Amino acid sequence: MGANLDWGNLGFAYVRTPYRYVSDFKDGKWDEGRLTGEDKIVMSECAGVLQYAQTCFEGLKAYTTADGKIVTFRPDLNAERMENSAKRLEMPVFPKERFLEAVDKVVAANRDYVPPYGSGATLYIRPFMFGSSEVIGVKPAKEYQFRMFCTPVGPYFKEGVRPIVIRVSDFDRAAPRGTGHIKAGLNYAMSLHAIVDAHNNGFEENMYLDPATRTYVEETGGANFIFITKDGKLVTPLSDSILPSITRRSICYVAEHYLGLKVEHRKVKFEEVKDFAECGLCGTAAVISPVGIINDHGKEIKLPSGMKKMGEITKKLYDTLTGIQMGKIEAPEGWIREIK
Ligand code: PLP
Ligand code: COI
Repeated sequence: MGANLDWGNLGFAYVRTPYRYVSDFKDGKWDEGRLTGEDKIVMSECAGVLQYAQTCFEGLKAYTTADGKIVTFRPDLNAERMENSAKRLEMPVFPKERFLEAVDKVVAANRDYVPPYGSGATLYIRPFMFGSSEVIGVKPAKEYQFRMFCTPVGPYFKEGVRPIVIRVSDFDRAAPRGTGHIKAGLNYAMSLHAIVDAHNNGFEENMYLDPATRTYVEETGGANFIFITKDGKLVTPLSDSILPSITRRSICYVAEHYLGLKVEHRKVKFEEVKDFAECGLCGTAAVISPVGIINDHGKEIKLPSGMKKMGEITKKLYDTLTGIQMGKIEAPEGWIREIK
């Protein structure tokens, strides 16, 4: 029995689902963890997360496949990335095996909220961790909570899979040798002013350039870039200060091994962007969202793929990636984890 939701018209917004997973870290260890219906958190006003933003998170999705199974996509990579985020923020690591078990439990418990195959919606899973004990001098908390909830979502951008218009940002998202490569809440707090300002000016997202020289492409507030050259190569920006997107790493593999494309993961000069044939944003939430126009301080870079539809190669990447996620195309070994 599925939940009675209008699956086809969901946006990317929070819908409370019945169960979430919680584990607390106290006296140097994680407790055994539990599913709970309680969606409210009570903690000290002086908790590390509230004072010094000691928090990190992840994002992954569960899908209903063509043959009716419920699966998640490469959750092991989310567990590994969260481990890196936790270490950089002086937080305890939530063990990978336990992370995977928690994903299985949360999805299984909220099975009715996994959108049906073909609805265009998916179940977004949000694991996160935060310092819960009191901190007033600048130092890490002693106690933490790991939590994971899920919420059914539609497309991240309201256009769905139609091309979007973005702008080059004058704000920086991350510092050289900072925290851009981990999924720290603070990176997103940093980007809020820039995204509100972008939206107020009619743009869907910000293209951030490298903070040191402002000559290389980094990423947007919530996705990595993919570019297609006029001779059909996939190019993705390399930088120490962008998030290592699991979607981007998967697209690179798919491009090379399923579509036979040449793939270059390298530094991308902003100057080169005008010469690309197609551009897209990729991420768990964004999936692959095509970019039609990049506005550089009033000067428009119009991608030859246009504003009507996805570029041809971007579309092939999109169809192959989502085909793998939805069980229509055979996945590489280890990419799909079935929820029993
Ligand atoms: N870059 C940023 C800043 C993000 O927030 C995300 C979303 O997770 C991504 C890239 C895409 O990463 P992934 O494909 O692992 O979801
Ligand atoms: C994700 O794609 O999972 C993210 O965390 C991006 C966020 C902007 C929703």
